[in-house]
Amino acid sequence: ARTCLVTGAASGIGRAVARRLAARGDRVIGADIADIKNAGDTADAVIQADLATPEGRALLVEAAAELGGGRLDAVVACAGVGVFDPAAVRVNGFGAIATLAGLRPLLAAGRDPRAVAVASLAAVHETDPAIVAAVLADDEEAAVAASQAAVDRGEARLVYASAKRALVRWVRRAAVTDAWAGAGIPLNAIAPGIVRTPLSRPLLEDPELHALTDASVPMPLHGYADPAQIAPLIDHLTSPENTHVTGQVVFVDGGADAVLRGEEG
Ligand code: NAI
Repeated sequence: ARTCLVTGAASGIGRAVARRLAARGDRVIGADIADIKNAGDTADAVIQADLATPEGRALLVEAAAELGGGRLDAVVACAGVGVFDPAAVRVNGFGAIATLAGLRPLLAAGRDPRAVAVASLAAVHETDPAIVAAVLADDEEAAVAASQAAVDRGEARLVYASAKRALVRWVRRAAVTDAWAGAGIPLNAIAPGIVRTPLSRPLLEDPELHALTDASVPMPLHGYADPAQIAPLIDHLTSPENTHVTGQVVFVDGGADAVLRGEEG
């Protein structure tokens, strides 16, 4: 069986992915800051780590090496927060990149290795170049300072989008290098629109925010998604069948990107 590691496996999309990969017969290692309840039907092994911190990221890599026996066949970097403050850059930017980069050597030792980052449609929205540049320069303190500056000038929404933009750019940059393509490891990002999870609940619970969300994330095909409708794409991208899709940002957004960026997007 393949051994796959999924971060954010305690909830939402990550949980649906863990369940889907377990159902296809994979051995799933779930990682999360939260307790992974009912791990039985989703994860065979659990790593509790805070990906907002360098210590938690190091712990993830260490524990994954041990639980995977020195190898992994797939990694899904899904853990993320929906907050509009510097935590978004720590978890969604640095945490996700550290997951992929840190676990890459284990993937290189795996069989038909594959990796996927869960980005967001937000990555193509307005972003703050200073935050994006600091993440790509691997300068966490500068990225946090730039995020705080955005919050202070009333542009907190840019923090989440910028962390996701940086993650997408990192994926496209890394995917075609010797370390990934050269080692036979497809690396892609997916960009969901709105998915009904605890993360998006505040947007959908409040009528005013719900209307704003409807307007800013138009999803003409089937509307807002459930996590189980996102998981099959990650299933495919992490399967041995995916031999040639790499460096892509695959939108799984009910058409939102096509609406917002138009036919030449
Ligand atoms: P969720 O809140 O249901 O799940 C996120 C998981 O990440 C939770 O289990 C949480 O404990 C974990 N996590 C948060 N901070 C962590 C940390 N510091 N260390 C380790 N684990 C941590 O949210 P959802 O919606 O399933 O989100 C999953 C990913 O999908 C996130 O990266 C999010 O940005 C992304 N996404 C979600 C969308 C949505 O509408 N729900 C839309 C586009 C992207």
